[in-house]
Amino acid sequence: MSEPASWQLPLWQSLLPLGRSEETGGYRRYSFTRADTECRDWFRREAERRSLRVETDQNSNLWAWWDPSDEPEGEVGAIVTGSHLDSVPDGGPFDGPLGVVSAFVAIDLLAEAGQVPVRPVGVVAFTEEEGGRFGVSCLGSRLLTGAIAPERARELTDADGVDLAAAMTQAGLDPDAVGADPQRMAGIDAFIELHVEQGSALADMDAAIGVAESIWPHGRWRIDFTGRADHAGTTKLTDRRDPMLPFAATALAARTVATELGARATFGKVRAEPGAANAISSVVHAWLDARAPDEDTLKEMVSQITAVAELSGKGHGVSVTSRCESLTPIVEFDLDFRDRVVTALARRGIDAPVLPTGAGHDAGILAAVLPTAMLFVRNPSGVSHSPAEHAEPEDCEAGVVALAGVLEELACR
Ligand code: GLV
Ligand code: MN
Ligand code: MN
Repeated sequence: MSEPASWQLPLWQSLLPLGRSEETGGYRRYSFTRADTECRDWFRREAERRSLRVETDQNSNLWAWWDPSDEPEGEVGAIVTGSHLDSVPDGGPFDGPLGVVSAFVAIDLLAEAGQVPVRPVGVVAFTEEEGGRFGVSCLGSRLLTGAIAPERARELTDADGVDLAAAMTQAGLDPDAVGADPQRMAGIDAFIELHVEQGSALADMDAAIGVAESIWPHGRWRIDFTGRADHAGTTKLTDRRDPMLPFAATALAARTVATELGARATFGKVRAEPGAANAISSVVHAWLDARAPDEDTLKEMVSQITAVAELSGKGHGVSVTSRCESLTPIVEFDLDFRDRVVTALARRGIDAPVLPTGAGHDAGILAAVLPTAMLFVRNPSGVSHSPAEHAEPEDCEAGVVALAGVLEELACR
């Protein structure tokens, strides 16, 4: 990462080393691990440095509050901003942290300019946004809003078979308390998430900042191909029930079907059991990430891909099962709130184009229950979910200025 702007530097300097792999330079910030605890401690320290009130909610999301000094007039809820600190395996530095760092720095800018909040301003860091450990994306915001049942969440397991309940207990948290928190939600009027763009639309438009229009419907499906383990050298090709073959056919079909439908389909995670180089696998577990511009297309694509898996499985004596692990419907961000954000930016001379995205975000989950908006910061290469993810310091700075401008209009005097 090139040098961040001086007024953001201390936050980045203290956050950047946490959970970074020396080998790849990517981040491995998985929920309830040491790296995650270090990120949470960082969040608390930065909040306390600013005299913000910090709390961890029942779903282990972190909140820092800039409270109004005077009792607000009438019934006004909070304006919340923030994002997440967890990462995909070998993720980049900005996906998530940019929104949290920018939130703290935006509050600094407002406070330095003598702005006073007339309603609570919250900074949030949601838990397990990437689903990098327990498989379901946006787990913290899904639990908070009731979009996932607590019983189901508690039973989610990581790659070592440790379930969420055990991981939370080990981290000193209470898994029995997870679940919808309507009281907290009732106290929030709107949420705005700043995020690095995970594509190159802004770079193509020569714009530093964008505003989200919608999020494509998307989900994850686990497909299990079960065959029969056997010797790689002695088993005749005709006698094999090799699950790797229908998996390979399915991965190729995913590309073809996604191309035909103008959608996206990815197998980014595959596990072969028992994983011996000299044995035919007994089982291949594969995770399909599927996204499309509309829900019918998404359904059609997944049904075509799973049909290929089953047909090819039959041809190889391999049984195939598939199950949806998470599904997020299309998100159309609240039009009135988006207009307020665009207008606030325009008043400050920031011309921010409105664009859709194929990436998922906690803002997309919260959009089901609150007016929600997103600001995107230009990513020159468009690369994300990779150590090569990048944003220029001056664009990060523009992001903070934009966010501060929006918070000023919505929450300050
Ligand atoms: C999160 O970044 C996702 O789109 O999976
Ligand atoms: Mn991500
Ligand atoms: Mn993200």
